[in-house]
Amino acid sequence: MNSNQFLAGHGILLVLLLLVACDGGAPVAPAAVETLVIAHRGASGYLPEHTIAAKAMAYAQGADYIEQDLVMTKDDEIIVLHDHHLDTVSNVATLYPGRARDDGRYYAVDFTLAEIRELSVTERFDIRDGAVTAVFPDRFPLNQSTFKVHTFAEEIELVQGLNRSTGQSVGIYPEIKSPAFHRAEGKDIARRVLEVLRTYGYTHPSDKVFLQCFDPYELVRIREDLLPAMNMDLRLVQLIAYSREFAAMTTAEGIRQVAEYAVGIGPSMHLLIDQDSDAGNLEVSELLKLAHSAGLVVHPYTFRRERNQIPSYAKDFEDLLDIFINQLGVDGVFTDFPDRTVHFLESSR
Ligand code: G3P
Ligand code: CA
Repeated sequence: MNSNQFLAGHGILLVLLLLVACDGGAPVAPAAVETLVIAHRGASGYLPEHTIAAKAMAYAQGADYIEQDLVMTKDDEIIVLHDHHLDTVSNVATLYPGRARDDGRYYAVDFTLAEIRELSVTERFDIRDGAVTAVFPDRFPLNQSTFKVHTFAEEIELVQGLNRSTGQSVGIYPEIKSPAFHRAEGKDIARRVLEVLRTYGYTHPSDKVFLQCFDPYELVRIREDLLPAMNMDLRLVQLIAYSREFAAMTTAEGIRQVAEYAVGIGPSMHLLIDQDSDAGNLEVSELLKLAHSAGLVVHPYTFRRERNQIPSYAKDFEDLLDIFINQLGVDGVFTDFPDRTVHFLESSR
């Protein structure tokens, strides 16, 4: 969605939101009592993203919530995968030659779950001029050991099983990916995700789930249509990208609208602090204040320890955490390194 679309949809959105308010169904943001550690794609700094191994490691490292990016298969299963493409984290091109679309990409929605289960998963890679390079060269080696794609249900069973065996209560933080793309493919991903959540007992705002999406229209649809129809009420989080397309959403009016259907925002960290800021002279935007004033929690992404992932205004990963957590006061962070973040929070107390 671009900002024009956001503004163009303003009237419809207002009507929808008025209906929510009149119905008494407007969500109320919970006050954050401690900073949440959200394991971004699992402990993805150490193991290939979105693998069961990365999720188990994140759990063991003390994450409060574990993230799942979700897409659909040809046979309507919900799988845990960052993109609706398979080709930058698996051997799909080798195993299924000739199954790419005209753009050269291999779409999860063109494969059955059984076919996808045959794939080997590896660290994220780029292909440039035929050469394969790891996106994060110092992380887990490419094409090493054995990793697979799994379903959303299987990941929930892992988290709930660990909650049982450890006595802890770790939450899940699923993201509905590309709802418009899925709709064009004849698939209602939001409805299917909610069905899985309901099956596993996530039906109420007190249940440990935040449901996130970049698409505000899909979130309004979930708030207005799907949740009431399914007798559910979950906490929704509006993701906000560092992109002109989302500029309208970061204004006071934009945030006021978001607060009508969501309990929080998940902005790029660069929307909170200008990434070109000087150390000691941080250019902090109004977004955090606007969101907190509107009763929204703020969970920025993505906190990584690699030097090229840390804005120059921060000395290192821990300094970056200090700036966002102790100086700004965000309510949680998406991080590839749950262990370092948990340790930072413990040593800050
Ligand atoms: O969902 C928060 C963050 O993960 C959004 O970015 O692209 O990593 O899903 P992405
Ligand atoms: Ca995500």
